[in-house]
Amino acid sequence: MNFVFVTGGAGFIGHNVCKRLLDEGYDIVSLDNFNDYYDVSLKEENFDSVLNLAKKLNRQAIMYRDDVRNKAIIEEIIKTYKPIAVIHLAQNAGVRPSIEKPLHYIDVNINGMVNILEVMKEYDLKKMVFISSSSIYGNNKKIPFKETDFVDNPISPYAATKKSCELFASTYHSLYKFDIHCLRYFTVYGPCQRPDLAINKFTRLMIQDKEIEMYGDGSSARDYTYVDDIVEGTILSFKYLLKNSDVFDVFNLGGSNPIKLKELIDIIALTLNKKPKIKVLPMQKGDVDITYSDYSHAQEVLGYNPKVKIEEGIKNFVNWYKKKYEKN
Ligand SMILES: NC(=O)c1ccc[n+]([C@@H]2O[C@H](COP(=O)([O-])OP(=O)(O)OC[C@H]3O[C@@H](n4cnc5c(N)ncnc54)[C@H](O)[C@@H]3O)[C@@H](O)[C@H]2O)c1
Repeated sequence: MNFVFVTGGAGFIGHNVCKRLLDEGYDIVSLDNFNDYYDVSLKEENFDSVLNLAKKLNRQAIMYRDDVRNKAIIEEIIKTYKPIAVIHLAQNAGVRPSIEKPLHYIDVNINGMVNILEVMKEYDLKKMVFISSSSIYGNNKKIPFKETDFVDNPISPYAATKKSCELFASTYHSLYKFDIHCLRYFTVYGPCQRPDLAINKFTRLMIQDKEIEMYGDGSSARDYTYVDDIVEGTILSFKYLLKNSDVFDVFNLGGSNPIKLKELIDIIALTLNKKPKIKVLPMQKGDVDITYSDYSHAQEVLGYNPKVKIEEGIKNFVNWYKKKYEKN
């Protein structure tokens, strides 16, 4: 049995990573505290779909409903299942709430990360894919963003915790020869997307013929990346780490195609056949003007090649959304 330890397996991206690993012939053990940052029933559904797939494929999917800061539980997981690697996604993910609760973000994101690294060290488990974020680039003026760019100017506590985790990843590589990749995800979307993220929010409000709050003049832009492409990049990284040693690296996983906010609203409206009602508000603190990935490093080293165009991805999201909420 080859177990992979995926933290955050009930989350939007985490449950998709779990399913892909099952498809690839691995068993999975996960740790997720099912917190109420958003509707917990969505997390239950996410992990139920993992369990269903595991059953169908006759593979194992184990969930520990606990916290990444609980050392004893992580010890139990690693001791019991002897995973071959860790994919660490379980962190506080929102940018704006991190401004309200910086200490909570430090506690979960940084302490949680170091907690896992420490237990891994004790049990001689030294392969980790750490999920970082494009938020690390702050409001850097040079675009597209490259992994070699200066990133010491985060504009949210969330981004500062991601940068700190990358530093700890590098520290454990230097001190204890951990093999680690840090994957900087660029705004991920697709079916099951978190309800606090723009595409989900705008779709919900447009379907209800309600007003959409647009922060800024609509010219801010995001490099939206479809969830299947992100999962593909994550699995490529995981496989690379299994095959190689003495590795520390950082990769952008994006789509190299920033879409302006107003353009995004128009694409969703067109897909829904609605006329959006837009209320313009000032830009929010912590929000960056643009994210734009140069993913050539991931392409060269991992063979990462994102495929899904925004129109197609939004169509898939809207179809999923309608099916789900028509059903209920
Ligand atoms: N969604 C994006 O656009 C995006 C972009 C960049 C980076 N990321 C990163 O990807 C990862 C997954 O993001 P997501 O969008 O799937 O978010 P998500 O909130 O859906 O998933 C995170 C999961 O981790 C769990 N979790 C949170 N705190 C925990 C704790 N203390 N102990 C145990 N479990 C805990 C949550 O219950 C949740 O199920 C996060 O690390 C996030 O920062 C996401």
